[in-house]
Amino acid sequence: MFEVLMEVLFGRVMALVYHPRQLPAANAAVKGKVYVVTGSTSGIGLETAKRLLLSGGRVIMACRNTKKAEALLQEWAQEHPGIVGDVLYLDLGSMASVREFAEQLKQRTDHIDCLIHNAGLFDMVSEYQTTDDDFEIHFQINYIAPLLLTSLLLDTLAKAPAPRIVNVSSLAHKFVQPALDDWQSERDHSPLKAYGRSKLYQVMMTKELQNRLAKQPQYAHIKVFAVHPGTVVTDVARSLPPVVVWAYKNLASLVMMDSHTGSDTTVHVATDPALDKRFGGDYFANCVTAEPHAAVRDQQLRRDLWTKTEDTLGRPIIPTKQTGTAANGHHDEAQQQQQQQQQQQQQQQ
Ligand SMILES: NC(=O)c1ccc[n+]([C@@H]2O[C@H](COP(=O)([O-])OP(=O)(O)OC[C@H]3O[C@@H](n4cnc5c(N)ncnc54)[C@H](OP(=O)(O)O)[C@@H]3O)[C@@H](O)[C@H]2O)c1
Repeated sequence: MFEVLMEVLFGRVMALVYHPRQLPAANAAVKGKVYVVTGSTSGIGLETAKRLLLSGGRVIMACRNTKKAEALLQEWAQEHPGIVGDVLYLDLGSMASVREFAEQLKQRTDHIDCLIHNAGLFDMVSEYQTTDDDFEIHFQINYIAPLLLTSLLLDTLAKAPAPRIVNVSSLAHKFVQPALDDWQSERDHSPLKAYGRSKLYQVMMTKELQNRLAKQPQYAHIKVFAVHPGTVVTDVARSLPPVVVWAYKNLASLVMMDSHTGSDTTVHVATDPALDKRFGGDYFANCVTAEPHAAVRDQQLRRDLWTKTEDTLGRPIIPTKQTGTAANGHHDEAQQQQQQQQQQQQQQQ
């Protein structure tokens, strides 16, 4: 918690010291590239999308409020004619929406240079709450739905020369312990625990996915990174009582980072060409690599998380030849059923 206090009080100063002056590193690194930014209608995601657009990237804004996204694009295009943006509906609170989004996206672009999982939920008021897919809400919106999206888009990412996946996590991942036997914090629930664990699984998965992608020739060029954006004044605290939200926006904003500065680490990790030389799987804060939770170094725990996640998704995270490029959960289940039927028929013969 000391780290959070330091960030709240000195976030702006730390950003001044550590963040590079020029971001993205060079427009040439961004120009013409395809970026998908989830949750780009407010806070850090909005700034991320805008900066990439103004640097010449083609940005696909993946969000729930498509009207707001269209209006933002229009506003930015009036100020900066020639920017190339697109809007596509995505609700991470619905696994069906994730599958639909992936299919629609593949019709709009044949490759993705960078997939930025920025959208996130930090609901500090509600009791244990589940989605229509029966997952705890933080677990779904921050962890398993973005991971399904990554999985569905791996082949489209692989078509880019130097693709990246950026998982916007949080320092809060360090304040919880993993609990794979209660991974959605159902028995031992607090909103902070559910949020922190969802972000911890995201950082663990960043490393595990990178290790596994590196072993597969067709995916080995994909880099996966996690970032902590800083403690940033955005709409993230919207679930708190109005008086707290008012204090957060009006008083905390005197010392905490604004959304623009809060997007520095995401934009840096999404665009710095030097990161192509890294193995990947790292966690960044203030635009430099940082030490994540000790659980991220626990290979067995990461493997267990991987297996449990694949079992829950009902599909391999990294597509196999059987799951194919256009796979989605239902498609995989249908294929699995077909394979099982064939096996049963062979056994009966
Ligand atoms: N602000 C901080 O201090 C801080 C610190 C550490 C980490 N982070 C992380 O940074 C990321 C961005 O947060 P922020 O601070 O910019 O918060 P924000 O202003 O609340 O933005 C969150 C974005 O996520 C979208 N989103 C929420 N639920 C969604 C869903 N079910 N489907 C699709 N999109 C959804 C929101 O869209 P709607 O407007 O439609 O709800 C919004 O665009 C989050 O992952 C957060 O956990 C923030």
